Amino acid sequence: MAEVVIVENAAAAGELVAESLRSLIEARPDAVLGLATGSTPLPVYSALAASVHRTPLDVTLVRGFALDEYVGLPEGHPQSYRAVITRDVVEPIGLTPQNIQVPNGNLETIESAGRDYEQAILDAGGVDVQILGIGRTGHIGFNEPGSSFASLTRVKTLTEETRADNARFFSSPDDVPMHCITQGLGTIRRARHLVLLAFGEAKADAVAAAVEGPMTASAPGSAIQLHPHVTVVIDEAAASRLANLDYYRHAWANKPAWQGI
Ligand code: PGA
Repeated sequence: MAEVVIVENAAAAGELVAESLRSLIEARPDAVLGLATGSTPLPVYSALAASVHRTPLDVTLVRGFALDEYVGLPEGHPQSYRAVITRDVVEPIGLTPQNIQVPNGNLETIESAGRDYEQAILDAGGVDVQILGIGRTGHIGFNEPGSSFASLTRVKTLTEETRADNARFFSSPDDVPMHCITQGLGTIRRARHLVLLAFGEAKADAVAAAVEGPMTASAPGSAIQLHPHVTVVIDEAAASRLANLDYYRHAWANKPAWQGI
């Protein structure tokens, strides 16, 4: 079962997860982080950056793999996930840019890009902690409903709902790419620890489907139920449709002190 932690707000979630990432990096300076984009994980990255500046920590060996990328954006496009990860994660935390990989959405090499990315993750020894957001469609990464639980990194077509959600980052909704390249649900499930974050009422149905719903490709987030180590960090609004809320609170309140998330 996923451990469900209900926090007061996104900032508290950021602190909690950043502290866990810090401990991981202290123990394993070349830890491999799985990096999500979108608004949800930003508090984690800013809390980790603040922690690293407050109490210095060598993060130069840390490695990272982004979950996904748009296909066909010109190189250097400010909304490409390569640019977003550089701006929101690499620079503030002080990671080494060459250690951070993002799926290659360049059309010229797109046919082999998925395979190459899988190989790079394997070569790195796999992902230690995968940070995840969840879309209103229930997607994790860009694995839209219908994605196989065994899927690996490949090109997907975005749903119109996801394109509309992401239109806020582009000057016009039509500018949101139609295709993306995303780690598959099978790729994500190979990470050693999954940390899924969600905030706000708009995510409540997707969270309930992921944590408590039937496992189905129609709710890609429900793939987390197959994973032995999952932490779901959510606010009250995102938790509002969970049936076993009392139990999650009880388990968290009585968590053994020696156990991290
Ligand atoms: P968001 O996106 O964090 O911007 O809400 C989450 C997602 O689409 O996975």
